[in-house]
Amino acid sequence: MKRLRVCFKNRPVGELLAQDGIHYFSYDADWLKAPLPLSPYELPAEAGVTEHRKGCFLALPGLCYDSLPDRFGMAVLRRSFQEQGVQNPTPLQMLSYLGDRTMGALSYEPAGDEAGQTERIDLIQVARSARQLMAHEHGEALDPAIVKAGATAGGMMPKILAAISKDGGEVMTGAQAVPDKMEAWLIKLNTNDKQHSQLIQLEHAYFRMAGAAGLRVPATRLIPDRNGVEHFAIRRFDRSEADPNLRIHTQTYASLAGIDYREPTEDYEDLLRLTKHLTRNHQDVCEQFRRMLFNVLACNRDDHAKNFSFCMDDSAEWTLSPAYDLLFTDNDLGGNWMMVQGKRSAISQDEFARLAELMGISRTAFETIMDEVKEALLQWPDFARQSGTGSGLTKVVNTSIRSMIEQL
Ligand SMILES: Nc1ncnc2c1ncn2[C@@H]1O[C@H](COP(=O)(O)OP(=O)(O)O)[C@@H](O)[C@H]1O
Ligand SMILES: [Mg+2]
Repeated sequence: MKRLRVCFKNRPVGELLAQDGIHYFSYDADWLKAPLPLSPYELPAEAGVTEHRKGCFLALPGLCYDSLPDRFGMAVLRRSFQEQGVQNPTPLQMLSYLGDRTMGALSYEPAGDEAGQTERIDLIQVARSARQLMAHEHGEALDPAIVKAGATAGGMMPKILAAISKDGGEVMTGAQAVPDKMEAWLIKLNTNDKQHSQLIQLEHAYFRMAGAAGLRVPATRLIPDRNGVEHFAIRRFDRSEADPNLRIHTQTYASLAGIDYREPTEDYEDLLRLTKHLTRNHQDVCEQFRRMLFNVLACNRDDHAKNFSFCMDDSAEWTLSPAYDLLFTDNDLGGNWMMVQGKRSAISQDEFARLAELMGISRTAFETIMDEVKEALLQWPDFARQSGTGSGLTKVVNTSIRSMIEQL
């Protein structure tokens, strides 16, 4: 495959061309007559051909790289290709395979032929199949629901796109059309392995705590399967709440700014400045600042550039997406992935205050945000209990949160 058409809600945007491991992208002349700023920094809407060489984005423009999944979805993709006898699919083959089963509002033509009916998901089967895939166990074919809806979303953890009925009773594959009276959700699967299964309730508790801390978060819920095992579901923000079949253009900070999210080189100041520039909305800057405080004080240390996103509406206005991937996590860096004024740990209240001042956040607003975040965090044991987080993990998190707050 050499060429691929990139579309925005069925309107042609431009073309990707692959040659000798390099990709070339050009916007269509018609798109340029009435362009939208889909990727205003990394790929501005201008005539001419841009060249994309090997680097962090599989040699794709960030705009398109965001349509590809990360570890779990990539494993699904590769396995699906292997089942068709293709060992090493190219980035264009993968984008074409996804076609319109992508997150956000971009799609790719020609599309693969994997499309088809939405079907009921058996969460037990799907989680089992996901576990086998992650453990590199071969043999059984992938669960059809994973093939249909598991290759799309990014991130490490096993997950699937789903259409869920309003009462939560019915769960269908949801990478394409969402049936009437159902909503678009993303489900992180509980694969019941020792390392990850307790993260399900932990993440649910973290979202409730984040909401109490004033962060803008999507609706979340725990969905039990027939065996009573709970899975974590989060309502999708790249689909309209009013009509889940309306797509919302979404880009990660990594793609917008051309950042390799695996390199811990970013500073919150850059993220805050980009937020200010892109959204031109002080409330979004305050919200991003609040998320930074939450991530530091609640030890959400997986705060890399793919865990922040922005959404664009049809009048080309960008806003901060709701927060996602909020969890007690650690890394080898001894602090947060994204730095605060060059530091990953032992950040003082004064240092946060200085950053607030730099971003035009008033002293009073800063103090209110700080107090609201701290107050919610101090109630951690209640959120943990309500979501069913195990007592050992609850204690570890509680000790960490309290020591973070005391250190300020
Ligand atoms: N509620 C949501 N709506 C739309 N996209 C989402 C939502 N939550 C996560 N995503 C997208 O899916 C990706 C993976 O989700 P994330 O929670 O980060 O999973 P992981 O824990 O595997 O990293 C994110 O990088 C983001 O692009
Ligand atoms: Mg993530």
